[in-house]
Amino acid sequence: MIVKHTQFSHSLWRLPLAATASLMMIAGCSQSDSHTATTSQNDPTIWPVLNNPVQADPAMEQAIDELLAKMTLEQKIAQMIQPEIRDITVEDMRTYGFGSYLNGGGAFPNDDKYATPADWIALAESMYQASMDDSINGISIPTMWGTDAVHGHNNVIGATIFPHNIGLGAANNPDLIERIAEVTAREVMATGIDWVFAPTVAVARDPRWGRTYESYSEDPEIVREYAAAIVTGLQGAADADFLSDRRVISTVKHFVGDGGTTDGIDQGDAQVSEQELFDIHAQGYVGGLNAGAQTVMATFNSWNGKKIHGDHYLMTEVLKERMGFDGFIVGDWNGHGQIPGCTNADCPQAALAGLDIYMVPTDAWKPLYYNLIEQVQSGVIPESRIDDAVRRILRVKKRAGLFDKPSPANRPLAGRLELIGAAEHREVAREAVRQSLVLLKNNDQLLPLDPTQHLLVTGPGADNIGQQSGGWTISWQGTGNTNDDFPGGTSIYGGIARQVAAAGGSVELSEDGSYQQRPDVAIVVFGEEPYAEGNGDIDNLEYQRGNKTDLALLQQLQAEGIPVVSLFISGRPMWVNPELNASDAFAAIWLPGSEGEGVADVILRDADGTIQYDFRGSLTFSWPATPQQAVVNRFDRDYQPLLPYGFGLRYGDTNVLDAELPVVMTQDETLSDMVVFERAPRSPWQLFLHSGEQSTAVTSSVQELPGLSSRTFDRLVQEDARRFVFAGGQMARFSFISAFPRDLRGYGEANSRLVVELKRQGTVPDEVWLGMHCNDACEGAVNIAPQLQAQADEEWVHLDVPLHCLQQQGSSLQQVFSAMYLETEGALTLSVADVRIVAGDPAAGNASCQ
Ligand code: BGC
Ligand code: BGC
Repeated sequence: MIVKHTQFSHSLWRLPLAATASLMMIAGCSQSDSHTATTSQNDPTIWPVLNNPVQADPAMEQAIDELLAKMTLEQKIAQMIQPEIRDITVEDMRTYGFGSYLNGGGAFPNDDKYATPADWIALAESMYQASMDDSINGISIPTMWGTDAVHGHNNVIGATIFPHNIGLGAANNPDLIERIAEVTAREVMATGIDWVFAPTVAVARDPRWGRTYESYSEDPEIVREYAAAIVTGLQGAADADFLSDRRVISTVKHFVGDGGTTDGIDQGDAQVSEQELFDIHAQGYVGGLNAGAQTVMATFNSWNGKKIHGDHYLMTEVLKERMGFDGFIVGDWNGHGQIPGCTNADCPQAALAGLDIYMVPTDAWKPLYYNLIEQVQSGVIPESRIDDAVRRILRVKKRAGLFDKPSPANRPLAGRLELIGAAEHREVAREAVRQSLVLLKNNDQLLPLDPTQHLLVTGPGADNIGQQSGGWTISWQGTGNTNDDFPGGTSIYGGIARQVAAAGGSVELSEDGSYQQRPDVAIVVFGEEPYAEGNGDIDNLEYQRGNKTDLALLQQLQAEGIPVVSLFISGRPMWVNPELNASDAFAAIWLPGSEGEGVADVILRDADGTIQYDFRGSLTFSWPATPQQAVVNRFDRDYQPLLPYGFGLRYGDTNVLDAELPVVMTQDETLSDMVVFERAPRSPWQLFLHSGEQSTAVTSSVQELPGLSSRTFDRLVQEDARRFVFAGGQMARFSFISAFPRDLRGYGEANSRLVVELKRQGTVPDEVWLGMHCNDACEGAVNIAPQLQAQADEEWVHLDVPLHCLQQQGSSLQQVFSAMYLETEGALTLSVADVRIVAGDPAAGNASCQ
């Protein structure tokens, strides 16, 4: 076999993650539009009429009407455009007068991670002044700034970082939640920001989903209650304190069904009935909107095949008309571009369906703005729809007092830098940590520990505030942070060390389990590395599959006869039977955030033997009994998790887990084939063309780059196949790419194959590479030219490549960005009818790679 030596110009298709994600969103026009609005099956009466505590005020409505009457179409459209701070200048704000703007995860003033609170205020102030300045028509409409303060004001260095939602769920304490939201609002106000994109009220049904930790529970009960508490804490109760100068606007997100997608795929499809959509996935809206939440964020996912950003039924008929929501709906990060027929820059469909604000980061904001203006002028979008959207936006601004409040730098909490990470705020976070810990195992009452002993604190998470904080922490993914990025924060080790020293005991820290003096007990802190959104999607719940370094550490200590306490950091319940077996005590500590000393408060007793704080957390996610048991939820008919919803030991309770839990797993579910292309690319895969330095998402039936073109044609049914023409002379490829890498290890273990149905037309060059592309520039490809050459012209064949052959060539299956690509430098015409990963038999041996 020839080894692939060609070097494609990778600069474009090997895009940084966020760029890939935004490119993907340009793509998204090929899904079928199966669920049409207001089909006969839809039943709006399933949805309740809201008991909105904030009623429309006739005087305010009249003022809004008067303002609207004076606004130009351009001013109105600008209210509906929300660009990102990395893509606009203050001068753009002055010229266009955007209704709002955002900073995405990991976006800071001046692109400076270490921007100070003063820098944040300075940006808020100049954007505000620009929006108020030089008003066309003598109208000044204050802009507003939205941010993802999803576990504290997490983009700002030095802010208090609270446990992620999954841990707060375990605390089961709405009062605490309200106080957390109140504190978050204060820290946000201190930086001059008006609006927070929280709470996430997803009910994550399948913890393979990378956003599981943003969910309070797999069950709607706590989510509904918490949504109300968070909204009240952020916005204030619907009284004199409502959106007062201590409060921020809140967003309940992502409407709706984000936690219900098939296989837990981020931005995937929730295939559920309308009743289930409401009963399970919409309860947070009932709680949050009845507490007066002023904004709702539309979700990336689809409901039964239809993207919700384009769903008139759910956004307009249900949320606005039936439920009576009178605030506005903001889109998610170029989510409108995923509606079939839309691009990020051109999408009247979203406004028509009921979206009020387009979240449009990247430079797509400008063409989108002009396109929307043109679409109103040409009658594609009725002006009444625009007026409705703008009326809603102005209503929220009026309710938030933005027309009357002083400018961001002059508000009462603005610039009160002592509020960022204030001691009393950290105290609330530490309390939340204490309450969120869930004790799964406690052999012989090993916990609480005597702090006068000699303790070893070890494991990769022991002294690692970044890891214990997870995603959405300073950076979007939560990666790249050191303890120095958390001034005022405490690692888990830091908290233990302080308390043990005070009690007269001693502590040693090591990452690898080594020690100077034999410890009385070892505390091992380990777990998931940070991730956000689809980057956290996995295909099976086994912890450290194929790479059990933490288990080895536990077993090493166990073999030395040292009692082991495991503290497991994770954004979801995981299959950890081997780690449980190797631990005397085991607590799920989720993603506790910056106040790691809350852990010591619970696991250490006082020197005199009294318990400081008992465990009080209970699982709000069922704990899996097998790696494959991803969809196991409270109230399931055949409910057999390892540990049920609500489980959590208290001190003195007897163990319920067997000392030796089963670790040899039988594959209890057969893998189904993963379809990549069948008539059209299947979610999450999207088709891209790459040629030389250029790349494009395939969004129409005919698409062309210099050197490579693609068009659909009819094979068995209309447009079910695609022909690709490589002109030759430069390296070109087509590929099926996912916005987020997919974990295909399960397919690898099951001896699966990449199967492509194709035919050649005409001659074939000597090198045609068929491959997979993974994260960190890894790829594996095989030369299929010999097979193509051997095949008859114009004859459909199935090309079958065992995944292990691609692995042999360098592909890792853990983070696959491109499930299949085909690349050549020669001239080639080739048609593709079907691409899939066909699940094999784990028991079968590896097929040969020719
Ligand atoms: C942004 C995030 C956003 C993500 C979506 C990132 O670059 O910072 O806020 O959610 O892209 O793709
Ligand atoms: C996320 C949202 C977030 C937005 C802005 C999106 O990618 O899905 O939750 O609010 O980015 O950062």
